[in-house]
Amino acid sequence: MKRIQIINGPNLNLLGKREPSVYGSQSFDSYLEELKIRFSGVELLYFQSNVEGELVNKLHEVGFDADGIILNAGAYTHTSIAIADAIRSITAPVIEVHISNVYQRESFRHHSFLSGVCKGCIIGFGLDSYRLAIESFL
Ligand code: DQA
Repeated sequence: MKRIQIINGPNLNLLGKREPSVYGSQSFDSYLEELKIRFSGVELLYFQSNVEGELVNKLHEVGFDADGIILNAGAYTHTSIAIADAIRSITAPVIEVHISNVYQRESFRHHSFLSGVCKGCIIGFGLDSYRLAIESFL
């Protein structure tokens, strides 16, 4: 069974409540249940933290065993060399995911420190971005 780790960064614990016009009105917990039903043949693991170093720690922890990592680093996407270095340091392929189309938004969201070290990026499909990322590993 493939093991796929989803990692969500800061403020993504508030999905469903946070700026619903941008991020939708579904909580991630409820969406995760749907994903687990849809991909019952996959071991789907989930971690969320608002703390940059905890995201780095999680990448180290799973990054040599997982078959794939789906990472939405939230705003750390645009700021974090530490997360980029962690992705470089591990062996599991990482897909960068964003719910919103960051290129339609403020210019500070147009640069990602992570895209260049990820296997690929899925951006702007709402929560469906995560499903597409899982499909890419299967
Ligand atoms: C986001 C986009 C980021 O710019 C933002 O800081 C987020 C969410 C997205 O999924 O669209 O927190 O990663």
